[in-house]
Amino acid sequence: MKSAMKKVLVVNSSVSGEKGQSSQLIEQFIQALPAGFAREDVDLAADAYPHLAMPELAAWMTPVADRSAEQQALAAISDQAIAAVESADVILVGVPMYNFGVPTQLKSWFDRLARAGITFKYTEQGPVGLLQNKPVIFFATRGGIYKDLPADSQTPFLKSFFSFIGLTDLHFIYAEGLNMGADSAQQALAAAKAQIGEVSAKIAA
Ligand SMILES: Cc1cc2nc3c(=O)[nH]c(=O)nc-3n(C[C@H](O)[C@H](O)[C@H](O)COP(=O)(O)O)c2cc1C
Repeated sequence: MKSAMKKVLVVNSSVSGEKGQSSQLIEQFIQALPAGFAREDVDLAADAYPHLAMPELAAWMTPVADRSAEQQALAAISDQAIAAVESADVILVGVPMYNFGVPTQLKSWFDRLARAGITFKYTEQGPVGLLQNKPVIFFATRGGIYKDLPADSQTPFLKSFFSFIGLTDLHFIYAEGLNMGADSAQQALAAAKAQIGEVSAKIAA
């Protein structure tokens, strides 16, 4: 029997689209994966989610059978985002640094993934993530240098958020110092390429 094709979920959030450094690193990573992955693309800059607001939260909190047509449509936004994550075997996430944080488009996607009773639950021992674990690879592209420094607001946040929903197999590929001169950018991209080789080999194994 032929085994089901594996799925890679590709989540880009660069406002520069496919020219974004994070988007380009993701393409390199996909090239390095073995054949046989089906690909699903989510382009958060092109198809941005709105800011999460009360009507959508209220739709989530309304039992499915009681939702109005408007609430059904609002709940479907998050249901579909979660379904794409659930059906993936590997998730690639482009994480440009914009103004010391993740792009607002990426945060709006995260806001659709955290659903009480669906992707996490609270217990007396604290929160428990409910998603089935799978590798998530982040492509962190930055004009300056932050890795392992207190000013890195992204990596601790990404670790907290993804482990909260049950995804703890997290890998980080960094390209830093992209806006610190041509030599610095070239070195950063070469270092990222080496990390891509290492992490893609682990994922393929
Ligand atoms: C609006 C904006 C804000 C930025 N803010 C930061 C920042 O706070 N720190 C930093 O190191 N680089 C910053 N940069 C530089 C980006 O991190 C860098 O250009 C990186 O390549 C972005 O990833 P991308 O090419 O995939 O979009 C910023 C770039 C833009 C466009």
